[in-house]
Amino acid sequence: MIDVVDVWKSYKSGPRQVDALRGVTCHIERGRFAFIVGPSGSGKSTLLYTLGAVDRPTRGQIVVDGRDLTAMTEAEQNDYRRERVGFIFQSFNLISNLSAVENILIPFLPRGVTDAQRARAEELLRRVGLGDRMNHRPYQLSGGEQQRVAIARARVTDPARVLADEPTGELDSKSGDEIYRILRELQESSDTTLVVVTHDRRFIRPGDLVLEIQDGLLAGDDAAEPAGGLRSGADVSG
Ligand SMILES: Nc1ncnc2c1ncn2[C@@H]1O[C@H](COP(=O)(O)OP(=O)(O)O)[C@@H](O)[C@H]1O
Ligand SMILES: [Mg+2]
Repeated sequence: MIDVVDVWKSYKSGPRQVDALRGVTCHIERGRFAFIVGPSGSGKSTLLYTLGAVDRPTRGQIVVDGRDLTAMTEAEQNDYRRERVGFIFQSFNLISNLSAVENILIPFLPRGVTDAQRARAEELLRRVGLGDRMNHRPYQLSGGEQQRVAIARARVTDPARVLADEPTGELDSKSGDEIYRILRELQESSDTTLVVVTHDRRFIRPGDLVLEIQDGLLAGDDAAEPAGGLRSGADVSG
C-alpha cells in the first residue's frame, strides 16, 4: 500500500524554480498494476522516483506499508530502496562487464553470494525465458533480453513493489509486448505492486489504476474504462 499525500517536488534551475509535482495525492493498493501516464515533462519520472525514495519530495508525505518515506533517514531510505523496491529503467542499466546472472546478484556481491542466492537468480532468469543466456554479457543480448535481465534483477530481493520508468521506451513493439506479458504475469502471480510510467496506453487493462499527470498535477486516478464496454478478466479495482 502506497499513500501519496499532497506531494510537491521543486527543483532550482538557475534563478528559476521548476515545480515538477504540485500537490499530488493518490493511493495505490497492494498488488495493483498502476500506470503513470502523461505528456513529456509532466512529472511522471519525478513521481515514480519519489515512490522509490530516490528523490525526496519538497513537501508532503509518502506512506508505504505504514512508514513515511519522507521522514526516513538517508540510511533507512537506502535500506528501503535496496530491500523493498525493484527498479526497471528505460535503458536497462545493466553493468556491461558482468554476465546476466552476475548483474542480478549485484546486491549480494559485497557480502559474498550464497548458493541459494545464485540458484534464485538463475531461476528468475529462467522465468523470463533466459535460461540459456545466464552467462551472456549485456552486449551479447538484444534490448528485449537485456530488459528481461533487468526484470529478473528487480525481483531478486523479492520486493513488495516494482517501479518501472518507460520500460519499453527503447524496444521494438514485439519486445515491448513480451516485457508487458512478463510484468503482467508477475503482478498476477504474486502480490507485487507494479507502478509503470509509460507513453504507451495500449498495455492498460480494465481494472488497472491509471494516474494521469499533467503539469505536476493528477488529472484523475480512476480505474481504466473497460474497452468497448466489456470487462475482460477480473476487476481488481476493489
Ligand atoms: N534534477 C532536476 N533538476 C531540474 N529540473 C528537473 C530535474 N528533474 C526533473 N526536472 C524537471 O521537472 C519536470 C518534470 O520532469 P520529469 O518528472 O522527468 O517528467 P516526465 O518523466 O513526465 O517526462 C520537467 O520540467 C523537468 O525538466
Ligand atoms: Mg520521465
